[in-house]
Amino acid sequence: MTLINDRFLRACLRQPTDRTPLWLMRQAGRYLPEYNARRAKAGSFLALAKNPQLATEVTLQPLDRYPLDAAILFSDILTIPDAMGLGLSFEAGEGPRFSHPLRDEQAVNNLRPADLNQLKYVFDAVSEIRKALTQNGQQRVPLIGFSGSPWTLACYMIEGSGSSDFKNTKEMLYQRPDLMKKVLDTNIQSVADYLKAQVDAGAQALMIFDTWGGLLPDGWYQKTSLASMKAVIDLLPRQKDGQQIPILVFTKGGGIWLEDIAHSGADVIGLDWTASVAKSRKRLLANKTPLALQGNFDPLALFSSPEQISTEVKRILDELAAAPALAEGLHPLDGHVFNLGHGISQFTNPEHVIALTETVVGHSKALRNK
Ligand code: CP3
Repeated sequence: MTLINDRFLRACLRQPTDRTPLWLMRQAGRYLPEYNARRAKAGSFLALAKNPQLATEVTLQPLDRYPLDAAILFSDILTIPDAMGLGLSFEAGEGPRFSHPLRDEQAVNNLRPADLNQLKYVFDAVSEIRKALTQNGQQRVPLIGFSGSPWTLACYMIEGSGSSDFKNTKEMLYQRPDLMKKVLDTNIQSVADYLKAQVDAGAQALMIFDTWGGLLPDGWYQKTSLASMKAVIDLLPRQKDGQQIPILVFTKGGGIWLEDIAHSGADVIGLDWTASVAKSRKRLLANKTPLALQGNFDPLALFSSPEQISTEVKRILDELAAAPALAEGLHPLDGHVFNLGHGISQFTNPEHVIALTETVVGHSKALRNK
């Protein structure tokens, strides 16, 4: 098998590339009419995600539209608590809901690691997608597998749904740290097993989404969310068939903890739009932890004009181009994966995404050839 486009993996592993690689968080989703058509046929989001053929089809949809350098498994972070028996559903327009949230000591004591047999549809989707990306032994782009972080999963498992403040979760954190530890330990094991099985099925990079790490106070973040992500990473395989498997960690709101995240064992740190990619590069170099970075275009800036979108992309790239390189022999733009700072909004105009992708491709190449 040959990877035709390995820019994404090379940037994660801090190797030079001809231009900056690019993909978009939630790139397969409701902003695409072809996705909505597929979901309507499947009946629901979960029906779509649990059907490997359909999940494969929607994974490839954004790749057929835009010059993206990676595919990401079409699934959700909440498949793990679903396989723990918490009873996941998605109510239209309301987001996820669990019928059996972890609200008392008994529920926590009854919690068991996820049954991987119940997640077979995910691993089947991974191998289907790998096959669909490959023609005559040539693979278009690498496939990213993913999981939620142990803490972010705990937030949904305890709260039972999304929340503006995750009050029940924080109550358990401060009031019953023993119960929180049990939930996190169970999640660490499940997340590690889940990611390992994705690698076995063909995932070529792994991303951990820590969407709610940024809710924690300094100190609590390090000992709760970050420590449990580090425990997961310590259990993960780092290569397969001679190929390295980069690990990406994204804590939303985690820019302030960059130096700490750099010691998680990850290869790439994902940034939301509140951090500066260029300043983060400088901080990591000063910290003697020269990791690759991913991010961090504000997804809501896609609601401005194509000209403004292009200006905003150039700002991120120009700033980084003026920062020091990660190592001798590299361009300052090497070791950066262009992405959004969070998932793309469902109300985004798919035409506007073209302004972003074309500017990343053209401008990152032009800056390297200067
Ligand atoms: O990036 C991709 O294209 C891969 C697929 C993917 C989905 N969810 C599909 C999805 C990924 C990587 C996720 C991760 C995810 N899921 C996170 C972490 C990243 C983040 O956004 O912070 C979280 C917190 C979830 C949980 C989740 N799933 C919520 C809160 C919701 C409802 C809110 C919303 O945006 O709809 C989902 C549903 C979901 N997951 C959809 C998709 C395409 C929309 C469902 C639909 O089609 O109706």
